[in-house]
Amino acid sequence: MNSKTQMGPSPPVVRSVGSDGASMPDFRQLLSQFASGIVVLTTALEVPFGVTCQSFFSQSLNPPCIATSVSKKSSTLPQFKSAGHFGVNVLAADQADLATQFARKDGDRWEGVNWELSPAGNPRISGALAWMDCRIMVDVEAGDHVMLIGEVLDAAIADAQEHPLIFFRGGFHTPLIDSRNRQ
Ligand SMILES: Cc1cc2nc3c(=O)[nH]c(=O)nc-3n(C[C@H](O)[C@H](O)[C@H](O)COP(=O)(O)O)c2cc1C
Repeated sequence: MNSKTQMGPSPPVVRSVGSDGASMPDFRQLLSQFASGIVVLTTALEVPFGVTCQSFFSQSLNPPCIATSVSKKSSTLPQFKSAGHFGVNVLAADQADLATQFARKDGDRWEGVNWELSPAGNPRISGALAWMDCRIMVDVEAGDHVMLIGEVLDAAIADAQEHPLIFFRGGFHTPLIDSRNRQ
């Protein structure tokens, strides 16, 4: 058996992605195959700020750190940097409207939103699955985004056993969770 047989047939290449930026729509489509949860990053100076983000992952267990990536064009990024801290709100399946609301350019993103300030001074949105208070440990410019690595200084998990909001192929979804896998 040669190595090609062991590997099996190559999957068909549907679209190629160029390195010159010309194929950016394909790159977006490629990344949209990766399903993720959705978070709203928040902070507060005189007023609250919040922005919807898909990019979110655990960066380190000891110390506990998470990472997220915010566009350099973001009007909220300077608020995170000047506060030096931000909150993470992990959205529940019934909060797709909030994900849209915290991504809009115009209007008051906080209109009709129930929230309270965490002890660290970050807005916690009611109904979220979990909240984290992060100190910005590192911010790194890479391409057209800035990666924020946040040390998690405080956190809480909601009591309710709600399902998470899932973002996949440009749309919001509710996962079918097998009750045997619940923890
Ligand atoms: C589902 C979804 C995921 C998003 N993920 C990100 C993200 O990971 N990073 C980012 O900078 N913007 C992301 N955005 C866009 C922002 O929510 C927001 O629209 C944009 O940054 C402009 O707002 P701002 O000027 O307050 O940052 C996402 C939007 C949506 C709807």
